[in-house]
Amino acid sequence: MDFQMSKTKENLARSFAAECQEGARYQFLAQMAQQEGYQYMSMIIRTLAHNEMAHAKQFFQKIGELGGQNVQNIDISAGYPYKTGTLQETLTFEAHNEQMSSDSIYPKFADIARDEGFKEVGELFDMVSKVEKTHQRTLEKLAESLKSNALYKSNSGEQAFKCDECGTIILGKSAPKTCPLCKMGQGYFRIDFSIN
Ligand SMILES: [Fe+2]
Ligand SMILES: [Fe+2]
Repeated sequence: MDFQMSKTKENLARSFAAECQEGARYQFLAQMAQQEGYQYMSMIIRTLAHNEMAHAKQFFQKIGELGGQNVQNIDISAGYPYKTGTLQETLTFEAHNEQMSSDSIYPKFADIARDEGFKEVGELFDMVSKVEKTHQRTLEKLAESLKSNALYKSNSGEQAFKCDECGTIILGKSAPKTCPLCKMGQGYFRIDFSIN
């Protein structure tokens, strides 16, 4: 199928817009976390924002690659999230957005791309979809930990808490209020939020 006439062109443009907005919203969220003293959380969210910009770049470049000089403005009509709330509400809300992207929107776009004969675009949507699933889990864990007050407390005996500023490791049931070495606040300590 001719790329200019394809649904895939529009889907790539929609996805580019969505990833840019998500990247921006995560920057705002990272600022909110930082202002509330959750430095390590803020860093995790900044990494998510960075990932979204990397996805945006791939979608943008794909449009140029397939459309060449023929692509100028692309009209898209789609809904984008504009909800605001507390830190915890926003984490939960964004986890839901990630779930929508990874479980429904990107798999659908991947199928359409393959139907239209753009196999590599299908693969791109599939790969991004997998990352969005890990984003969903990370945001869910952050929201849960914040809610249950478990960000700096171990629920299973002693644990290693690491100060992200100076690297000091404290073994205990909770992170200290301030780091004994660099004197930074508790918000600099991290527990591992990597996916399991
Ligand atoms: Fe993304
Ligand atoms: Fe994401």
